[in-house]
Amino acid sequence: MAQTITHTKTRLEPTRIAAETFIIHNQEGEGVAPVILPLNSLVIRGSEPVVVDTGFAHSRDEFLADVFSVVEPEDIRWVFISHDDVDHTGNLNALMEAAPNATAIIDWFMMERMGGTLQVSPLRQRWVRDGEVVDVGDRKLLTIRPPIFDSPTTRGLFDTTTGVYWSSDSFATGMETVVRSVTDIDPEYWKQGMPTFNRWVSPWLELVDDAKFQKTVDRIEQLGASVIAGCHTPAIPRSHIAAALEATRQSPYATVLPQPDQDVLDQIQLVMMAAE
Ligand SMILES: [Fe+2]
Ligand SMILES: [Fe+2]
Repeated sequence: MAQTITHTKTRLEPTRIAAETFIIHNQEGEGVAPVILPLNSLVIRGSEPVVVDTGFAHSRDEFLADVFSVVEPEDIRWVFISHDDVDHTGNLNALMEAAPNATAIIDWFMMERMGGTLQVSPLRQRWVRDGEVVDVGDRKLLTIRPPIFDSPTTRGLFDTTTGVYWSSDSFATGMETVVRSVTDIDPEYWKQGMPTFNRWVSPWLELVDDAKFQKTVDRIEQLGASVIAGCHTPAIPRSHIAAALEATRQSPYATVLPQPDQDVLDQIQLVMMAAE
């Protein structure tokens, strides 16, 4: 029988991280798992507003309310999807239905991989691949694949006006408590968290030519970003970007924590049964 988890979930209002740029917050695992994982999206409220990634479907009401607290549905012109995983596409169809003037920025392979779950007409799609530029009126957005990724369709997004880089699944970390910025995470916990998630997300890191991998980190470093925002990290301000890049560079060699196993599921089930 389906079980509803009744623990209290922290609800953060959108966070302004740069001019007209807001993180839409969500997280999983709070109160039931050993780690809390951020599940963010982004809104760039320029002359042609852009929503970047769309969260999990089961958080639809909160996601739409938070996005529409920042931008009116009919003003949204673009919905950029960084890749086709369910934690990034969960509310794409609902958002496109609610935002009649929006075009979804995906690509051919994303459309193929999403199959029947994508209910957006090709007439409302635009296909943009890594390295291309999207002109959204008052600013240009560069699509730049981050170093860590778990779908071949992944592209990050760099706003050349504000210097904000959306890293998709890169620079991910768990949190001990729900926070808006990595400056509020214990530094040692953060430095362990990034390599751990990097290796979980991209287990192929152990197999790749290191010089080639480091060039993918160079590509992000050369952006000179003002803030890195990502789906699975609190905001990374300029003061902490060098540390995030370095943790990523070291990730192929890091000793990382094992993924949660059956013992962890046992604990989760105990919490759920206690909440009945
Ligand atoms: Fe992913
Ligand atoms: Fe993700």
